[in-house]
Amino acid sequence: MADKIVLQLKKNGPILVMKDGKVLMALCRCGASTNKPYCSGDHAKVGFEAEEGTLEI
Ligand code: FES
Repeated sequence: MADKIVLQLKKNGPILVMKDGKVLMALCRCGASTNKPYCSGDHAKVGFEAEEGTLEI
């Protein structure tokens, strides 16, 4: 069976793409990143608010 990819939606932050417990990348979901499609940390500056969650694919 293939290893699952886990998408961890961080509260008020990015989507972490994870495999085997390791973070492969952090994707921006606030739209304010200066390094799209990756999170640059700017979500904190713009006051981005979003719920946390987890998806397995
Ligand atoms: S989620 Fe971090 S910069 Fe958009």
